[in-house]
Amino acid sequence: MTRTAFSRRIISSLSTVVAFSAVFLFLAGCPGTTPVVTPPPGNGGNGDPGDPGTPDNPGDPGDPGDPGDPGDPGNAPTLLGLDAGKSLLLPFTVQVAYNDDTIFFHTSWEGDRGDTHDYFRYTDGAWQKEGGVRRDGQATIDNDALRGATNQNSTIYESRMTFMLDDPSGPNAVEGFGQYGCMMTCHDNSRAMPTWIHDDGEVHKYLPDDVPGRLDLWHHRLARANPIGLSDDQWVGQRIGDEGDGDGGSRHGDGGTGPWQTGNFDDDGNPPWAFDPATTGGAYAFPFDELFTNPMRHIIDDTAIGLGVSGVGIDYADAVAMGYVPSEGDTIPRRRLRQTEGSRGDITAAGTTFTPSNNDPLFGRWNSNIQRDMDTGNDDDTALADGKVYNIAFAVHVGKVTVRDHYVSFAHSLSLNGGDADIQAVKIEGMGCGNMEGMGCTILPDFSDTTRFPKYELNLFLPGISSYEFLRGENVDLEFIDPATGEAVDQSHAGATGLMTQGLSCQDCHTAADADEFAPTQDGGFFGGSMETLVPQRGGVNTPTPLPPDEG
Ligand code: HEC
Repeated sequence: MTRTAFSRRIISSLSTVVAFSAVFLFLAGCPGTTPVVTPPPGNGGNGDPGDPGTPDNPGDPGDPGDPGDPGDPGNAPTLLGLDAGKSLLLPFTVQVAYNDDTIFFHTSWEGDRGDTHDYFRYTDGAWQKEGGVRRDGQATIDNDALRGATNQNSTIYESRMTFMLDDPSGPNAVEGFGQYGCMMTCHDNSRAMPTWIHDDGEVHKYLPDDVPGRLDLWHHRLARANPIGLSDDQWVGQRIGDEGDGDGGSRHGDGGTGPWQTGNFDDDGNPPWAFDPATTGGAYAFPFDELFTNPMRHIIDDTAIGLGVSGVGIDYADAVAMGYVPSEGDTIPRRRLRQTEGSRGDITAAGTTFTPSNNDPLFGRWNSNIQRDMDTGNDDDTALADGKVYNIAFAVHVGKVTVRDHYVSFAHSLSLNGGDADIQAVKIEGMGCGNMEGMGCTILPDFSDTTRFPKYELNLFLPGISSYEFLRGENVDLEFIDPATGEAVDQSHAGATGLMTQGLSCQDCHTAADADEFAPTQDGGFFGGSMETLVPQRGGVNTPTPLPPDEG
């Protein structure tokens, strides 16, 4: 297997598209009240011939003009490889408020709209799957079966905002999470990391074998949950002792039913569902080249009627019985959205908005609003209470990537009137939406009032191959060769491991960006450099993964 050297993408420009203003307006997030969504106008701003071309800006996720990038609505997505021009940093803001029963998170960043995931598309007389991540796109381009799927047709993948939450004094406490943050769940054998191969499957997040506990994962999926006003709710634990729901990682859905289900081909090679034409103005499917503009990019089942998406799925066989004959380009979403049940549905996403930028309707500002009961009473959730301090670490997926190609933060502290912390949640009066069915809801906190709800600003960064093992100094005898340079990457963490066992955390020695102020919170820290400078030194940031020499 030869590994084709990664080639930097070509930057081009394209004509300006007319911006439109997407207004996703949810009236309230309480159960019993139906969130109302106004979808963006149907013409998502197709190219105005009179507009001059807009210069492209390399590195912007979802940039208009990136070849194959869906910056131009109406352009069908194509196959995309890695994006070496992607910025290493993503500015991100956090505001948190809570009342007697509900906590409200407001986060904001700029990135691609990313409200599409994967699809069935009728091509040359047969249904095929469309969509997937850039790393599999690169493996397909390179025909490199060791590193990913080699049969991907296009690159379409949802954006997300996630965080992991730990209560250091709670029953699920994860010792060391406040120091290591997300990196505690990132390992050399995780998907797209140095000792992983494609045959290993989706080895996702897991806690080290000697660190028990559970991290509460709030997973705001912008294609697979947000269109019906919901967030996914999951947790992360150890591989040992948990059955693990994937191929060797330990990221689990909370108990109950999640906001989406995955459809697979039946024995005849047909999708499991098509649209009920009574809900779409007569269509069973939509044209692939309208993927980014057609509201039918989302589909629901009966349980989600009234939650903001109108196209309902019916059995494919029923559609055929009603007279449906697929034609070239017909497209049907592979993920069907549905109302949640149980602990999996604890988090709502009322008031989340995407505001497109002026020159690209598919790139803009997300304002994520998510809400949950302070204490859900479910043991797969971290209960929150007044007067306490928690550990929290954020991630954002933009630009059709997953695993380590997403932006992450260090661990931060979050106080609910519990004293000193990075992020201060603001107590507001009254009761919230939570599970107080029938009691009416308070209005969402007005997070635009930054005097009342101060913004915590931070830079997220791309982690590259910063595994827990590397950070612990366990990799000093291992060799990983960076295919971009042909050199072995540095495997020594400068003796930081010893200091971490004495309680120091990443932020006691590092900043995310070069420009960030270095503000250690504990004695003994010293400035070891920024992630912006250090992470690329070990390779693998939006480029092929450094590998053990025998796998190169
Ligand atoms: C006690 C201080 C200290 C702590 C705590 C610490 N580091 Fe470091 N780290 C360093 C020093 C010093 C270097 C070497 C800098 C250099 O090579 O110029 C370094 C290097 C790195 C590098 C680049 C490695 C390379 O080979 O160039 C990464 C990535 C990194 N640290 C991430 C982290 C993360 C993530 C955490 C928290 C889990 C962390 N560090 C905690 C001191 C620390």
